[in-house]
Amino acid sequence: MSATNNDFARLIAEHGSPLVIISRRELTENLRRLTAALPGVRLHYAVKANPMPDLLGVLAEAGSRFDIASLGELARVSKLGVETRDIVYTNPIKSPAEIASAHKTGIDTFFYDNLPELDKIAQVAPGVQVMLRLGVDNPNCVVDLGAKFGCPHDEAEQLLMAALERGLVPRGLCFHVGSQTSIPVPYMQAAVVCRSLFNKMALAGHPLRTLDIGGGFPVSYKTPMMDLEDFCKPIREVLGGYFPNTEIIAEPGRVICATAATLIMRVIGKSQRRGITWYYLDDGLYGTLSGLVFDKTNYAFECLKTKNPEPCVLAGPTCDSFDIISKNEFMPGLELGDMVLVHNVGAYATATATRFNDVPMAKILVR
Ligand SMILES: Cc1ncc(COP(=O)(O)O)c(C=O)c1O
Repeated sequence: MSATNNDFARLIAEHGSPLVIISRRELTENLRRLTAALPGVRLHYAVKANPMPDLLGVLAEAGSRFDIASLGELARVSKLGVETRDIVYTNPIKSPAEIASAHKTGIDTFFYDNLPELDKIAQVAPGVQVMLRLGVDNPNCVVDLGAKFGCPHDEAEQLLMAALERGLVPRGLCFHVGSQTSIPVPYMQAAVVCRSLFNKMALAGHPLRTLDIGGGFPVSYKTPMMDLEDFCKPIREVLGGYFPNTEIIAEPGRVICATAATLIMRVIGKSQRRGITWYYLDDGLYGTLSGLVFDKTNYAFECLKTKNPEPCVLAGPTCDSFDIISKNEFMPGLELGDMVLVHNVGAYATATATRFNDVPMAKILVR
């Protein structure tokens, strides 16, 4: 983000704290960078990462398509005027009522990774297209999605055939390598497995037409990650070589919105405990910094003072002792009212914030 510390101070004076500032420019730039790094891949922004309406509006205006996981998310993007042809509903588990309602709205493709889901889809939305999600075992990610979703590879062919037997149309395959993946290798490995299944289905007379490579593209928090262009280059090459005439989709969440937001908090309390200074801030683990819990994010914390840093603990505003933000920070002596900044809080942060203790959530500004 290009805002300066003076801008932050001015915005806090005007809007109060805690405050999340989202940069339109950064959002559109992130979308542009990924589009350039994966040419020919249709990008569907994963709404779950940050469903804030103004943010979705910026991305829609910039030409993004959308990936949704619930009827609530479908309603959000539909409200913006996004056509259902530009939406993928990728949750592999849905209730019959959800399938029926999404189908009525115009969703013509449903995702699955097991037979009971396929039965539900066939019953509620006969004849629709289906995408089979393959499991991915990836130790090089921070948020593992393979534990909950994706079929074993040796069951995939049978699950594709089962769709045909139920009068459904197998449209293609999808996978998600896990969020915040540090190396591109898992995409390439999954693409190889998918190629073999595409071949088998073509030989059986039922060619597949779509490959969905999910999300997972990394962002540098405290730990630097690969540059996006370098990360995508081998993926681009494998896709070009193995899937030259296939419709390819990606569902990026984090890489589009994480770096677009900064959280500004203020010190509201200060104490000494066992020789260490504790600073109590006006946002914490139950609020915007919920990503520390649900997303395992390793944020860097900054303040505007620079001299004589000393060990300190940062804690949130709720009454729960779980609400400790970081036990291992070094900061110069802060006073009540001083600002603490956290960059890169655009993904899986406000999206998972709670109202515990009825502490007001951070105000969000999109500018
Ligand atoms: C099905 C699906 N698609 C896309 C995403 C977005 O992933 P990321 O934010 O890692 O790009 C997720 C994240 O959980 C997901 O579950």
